[in-house]
Amino acid sequence: MSSALHTSALTSLPLLARGKVRDNYAVGTDRILMVASDRLSAFDVIMGEPIPGKGELLTQMALFWFDKLGHLCPNHLTGDAPESVVSADEVAQVTGRSMLVKRLKPIPVEAVVRGYLAGSGWKEYQENRHVCGVPLPEGLKNASRLPQPIYTPAAKAEAGEHDENITFERTVEMIGLDLATRIRDISIAIYQAAAEIALTKGMIIADTKFEFGLDTDGTLVLMDEVLTPDSSRYWPVEGYDAAFAAGENPPSYDKQFVRDWLEAVRINGAPWNKTAPSPRLPREVIEKTAAKYREALERLTAA
Ligand SMILES: Nc1ncnc2c1ncn2[C@@H]1O[C@H](COP(=O)(O)OP(=O)(O)OP(=O)(O)O)[C@@H](O)[C@H]1O
Ligand SMILES: [Mg+2]
Repeated sequence: MSSALHTSALTSLPLLARGKVRDNYAVGTDRILMVASDRLSAFDVIMGEPIPGKGELLTQMALFWFDKLGHLCPNHLTGDAPESVVSADEVAQVTGRSMLVKRLKPIPVEAVVRGYLAGSGWKEYQENRHVCGVPLPEGLKNASRLPQPIYTPAAKAEAGEHDENITFERTVEMIGLDLATRIRDISIAIYQAAAEIALTKGMIIADTKFEFGLDTDGTLVLMDEVLTPDSSRYWPVEGYDAAFAAGENPPSYDKQFVRDWLEAVRINGAPWNKTAPSPRLPREVIEKTAAKYREALERLTAA
């Protein structure tokens, strides 16, 4: 695996935007080169230290899923090699970690699907037995499997803001009934298909987020990354039962390890205030996190 890349610096293409994790470059007017860096964000703050291998693992995982789910919805992959659009001396920065995609008109709805009650969903359920306007039965616990997957969309926030949960009705007001309904139904179908595959590999996908865009003919296309540990909550099956019985969060394949460390760290005796700059991650935290991401991909792609 190539060395860690915190921030890409391609000069052969114009930079469109740097997200928390990806650096996006324009390729002509109709394609985007999405370079997944090794940055890690926690509590919406980018850590100063990269996680070696993370960008490549995320990209490989997204490609795995695009391949498996292509029959449910067209996706933004062009099939063109990322190496073909950068200069020879920049190939090392993009190889393995990039996707060369069709440039779409993004739909400002984050299509969240939850199959289990966790995180903010569990918090809200305890208050009012609903999650984002969806009523749920009594008696569910933290990490309960839901009777069926639910669609709980969010409005995509401006840079630096948190996404805001919204109702399905609100998405209808934003983008119209037809598009809102198609996005909901396709998202649930993709989640169900993916969750079934993941389960055969010993992993639960508790929840996930998809993004969609429209191409020049108005076709609805699945875009962004899909079903990576950054956009989805993965739980190894073997940790689930014990955690569920104890009312705890099942261990997950993501940055929980970093989050726990950040919650516990003290800076001059005080907790970190969750604004930049982040505290310097210890080597052990970096290595454990890198290992988690590796394990997730290995499990998923194991025969
Ligand atoms: N095929 C595509 N065409 C146009 N825009 C896309 C496409 N795929 C993804 N995007 C958009 O490109 C951006 C991807 O960058 P990234 O996810 O790194 O940034 P972000 O979403 O702004 O930040 P973050 O995910 O860190 O909150 C997102 O805004 C996403 O909606
Ligand atoms: Mg994003």
